[in-house]
Amino acid sequence: MKLFIDSAEIKEIEAAAKTGLIDGVTTNPSLVAKSGVKFEDLLRRICELVDGPISAEVTAMDSVGMISEGKKLAAIHKNITVKVPLTFEGLKATRAFSSEGIKTNVTLCFTAVQAMMAAKAGATYISPFVGRLDDIGHAGMDLIRDIKTVYDNYGYKTQILVASVRHVEHMLKAALIGGHVATIPYKVFEQLLSHPLTDSGLARFMKDWENAKK
Ligand code: E4P
Repeated sequence: MKLFIDSAEIKEIEAAAKTGLIDGVTTNPSLVAKSGVKFEDLLRRICELVDGPISAEVTAMDSVGMISEGKKLAAIHKNITVKVPLTFEGLKATRAFSSEGIKTNVTLCFTAVQAMMAAKAGATYISPFVGRLDDIGHAGMDLIRDIKTVYDNYGYKTQILVASVRHVEHMLKAALIGGHVATIPYKVFEQLLSHPLTDSGLARFMKDWENAKK
């Protein structure tokens, strides 16, 4: 399973990238706004840190505007993946990007039918938001299972990029279902290896080692 970091904070991306475990980065307009860094400068810096797909979202609402914005973003670096919203305008833009070989990440997916339409438009990635579904009392992971079934039924090549991940369990469930990628916030990245028995076991090994030297 590929692992992306869902962040626009350079320090977080740098720290995660240094582990050698990160395959890509996703950003969104809220994360970029919070970072306070100019979008293009931020993308250039991220592309220096991570050699993998970097999602950059368009903010136009119409396909013509999205295509023009997306082309400018894609020109920044070969690894830029243009992120578009799951609307008819977004899918028109997705089709145009796809025919020009520009990679896309169709975002804000909340149903398997939406995901099927994105695949028909030629999306490279589909981003189902599991955490936001959980937040409103739905089972976010059911959506990943449904999309996987639909894509397998018809052989769609679009990759499932599990997004809005809130905890490690989301990542495990996504991997068990066969999601292609999980994009996770830095807080969850830090928790990936945490287990109290790993900590206590290591402490015990170190103590025994020190005692043996006395
Ligand atoms: C994905 O590309 C989005 O940036 C992200 O996963 C949204 O997550 P949130 O629901 O925690 O804002």
